[in-house]
Amino acid sequence: MSLRTRLTERLGIEHPVILGGMGSGATVPSMVAAVSNAGGLGVLGVSRVPPERIAAQVEEIRASTDRPFGLNLLLFASDEGAVEAVLAHRPPVFSSAWAWPHQDLRPIFERAHAAGALVMHMVSTLEEARRAAAAGADLVVAQGTEGGGHVGTLAGMVLVPMVVRALAPLPVIAAGGIATGAQLAAALMLGAEGVLLGTRFLATSESPWPPSFKRAIVESDGHDTELTEIPDVAKGAVWPGAFDRARRNRLIAEWSGRGHELRRRRAEVAEAIARAYAQDDAEHGELNFGQAAGLIDAIEPCAEVVARMVAEAEARLAAAATMLRA
Ligand SMILES: Cc1cc2nc3c(=O)[nH]c(=O)nc-3n(C[C@H](O)[C@H](O)[C@H](O)COP(=O)(O)O)c2cc1C
Repeated sequence: MSLRTRLTERLGIEHPVILGGMGSGATVPSMVAAVSNAGGLGVLGVSRVPPERIAAQVEEIRASTDRPFGLNLLLFASDEGAVEAVLAHRPPVFSSAWAWPHQDLRPIFERAHAAGALVMHMVSTLEEARRAAAAGADLVVAQGTEGGGHVGTLAGMVLVPMVVRALAPLPVIAAGGIATGAQLAAALMLGAEGVLLGTRFLATSESPWPPSFKRAIVESDGHDTELTEIPDVAKGAVWPGAFDRARRNRLIAEWSGRGHELRRRRAEVAEAIARAYAQDDAEHGELNFGQAAGLIDAIEPCAEVVARMVAEAEARLAAAATMLRA
């Protein structure tokens, strides 16, 4: 017996588990290939990456796996040229998120379809979900506020079934706060067809994060993240309505409530954030991880994460079936 959903059928993959296409170098080809080779779907974040670097990364993925994979763009930060640079590689999945309200999604999704890709768009509100479906998305990811990085304010427990109900029969994928097989089983019960994970995959041997950043995820009890604007203000990044979930480390504590001063000294702070990453300093770096850190106890290979999640979900679902009595 094995777990099959409309997601696994649609993508031609074995397991309904997706690596979120995390940007800013948080995903690398070896990680993407490891998740795809394990039977899930690996997605590479390529926002703001120059075309020649994207080409080299795609080549690396294709040299390591012949399974499906995806390429992700943050639409608010991507012009037509960036979309073309991604689609030129004919990725099996075009993954996108966070468009400005004035951006027309339909031509972007049509272009992706013409390049042979399935379109997977991530949303954090019901309105964005309806917009993605109307524009022709094949798969919609409903991301709850528990997630790491940029999120909305609604919990996945509420958002996922709302999006499932509103978009039916369009396949929906649950994201935000998910790290275990029990949660994969629960997501399926909420009507999702699979799960997409970020934080869990950041704490893996293939993850490019510095060692102390990965250790911070393992050490976290899940209570030490907050929604903050501090890293975005420092970097001068304006997102279309997203909040940034990051660990409450010294960087966040030091600048909390000092927005005016932060704006004045933002170049200096942005530099310090970049330096902290290079120097493996988890206290002064930007640690975008989510509440799922409370469920992560070890740094493991991606393949083990996928295999354990699926085995646990299958066991949970089989056990749940025995609760039903005639
Ligand atoms: C460091 C980091 C960077 C991210 N970058 C992107 C991105 O560029 N594009 C995107 O669609 N999602 C991005 N995300 C969101 C993830 O794809 C995913 O939706 C989220 O991590 C799910 O929540 P979880 O961390 O609890 O698993 C990022 C998340 C993190 C933690």
